[in-house]
Amino acid sequence: MIIHILPGAERLGALAARHIEVALLGVRRPVLGVATGSSPEPVYAALADRASAGTFRVDSLRAFALDEYVGLPDDHAERYRNVLLRAFADPLGIDDRSVHVPDGGDADPSAAAEAYERAIHLAGGIDLQLLGIGRNGHIGFNEPGSDFRSLTRVVELADSTRVANARFFADRDEVPRHSISQGLATIMRARAALLIATGAAKAEAVRAALTGPVTTDLPASVLQRHPALSVYLDGEAASAL
Ligand code: GLP
Repeated sequence: MIIHILPGAERLGALAARHIEVALLGVRRPVLGVATGSSPEPVYAALADRASAGTFRVDSLRAFALDEYVGLPDDHAERYRNVLLRAFADPLGIDDRSVHVPDGGDADPSAAAEAYERAIHLAGGIDLQLLGIGRNGHIGFNEPGSDFRSLTRVVELADSTRVANARFFADRDEVPRHSISQGLATIMRARAALLIATGAAKAEAVRAALTGPVTTDLPASVLQRHPALSVYLDGEAASAL
């Protein structure tokens, strides 16, 4: 594990974007695992700069999302497919068809989850998976108690996660109760992982995930076992290390 501690989100975004560019350089048809939430936003902004400068090549890039809410209307602004097109694909000039997201609108979400796991496999697996971390230590939507062997599946969101994500919705009741999330085993199969955290609210989860016991009580702690984990933190997120 390599931990980078940067003075602010902009610097963090710039260095993490360079990391991603270098990691995918020699890969012929790279597969990037992408995350939603505020943490990766500075990284996507810096990647967009590198794409327009021509250093980061996106023509053959395929992106696979970590997770998606179940049951939001197609045009809902917080549907993760829409969030990723807005924050990631459009600024980088990536075709919508190269962005793969679990189908949270499927009448059979469990079947959609299984199909998504297969799609990752058929794409050759994920070369580099970007990750944020929830305050309760979740990665993707793998809430505390998630099995380390879990694959992409339907999960119920913790109350604390629905409260944390209510800021993106008109009110708390609008936050979906379920999502389709890559499992912890799915995430651990990525050939490399890059965890991003900013802000003091993440400091305790970061400390526990990186230096505490590896336990299903704190799903992100499983990343300690990943052979190629890089962590990018700002000073506040690193303050409890
Ligand atoms: C959400 C997402 C996670 C994300 C986390 C942290 O619930 N499903 O993938 O990492 O919350 O979000 P943020 O970066 O906005 O703090």
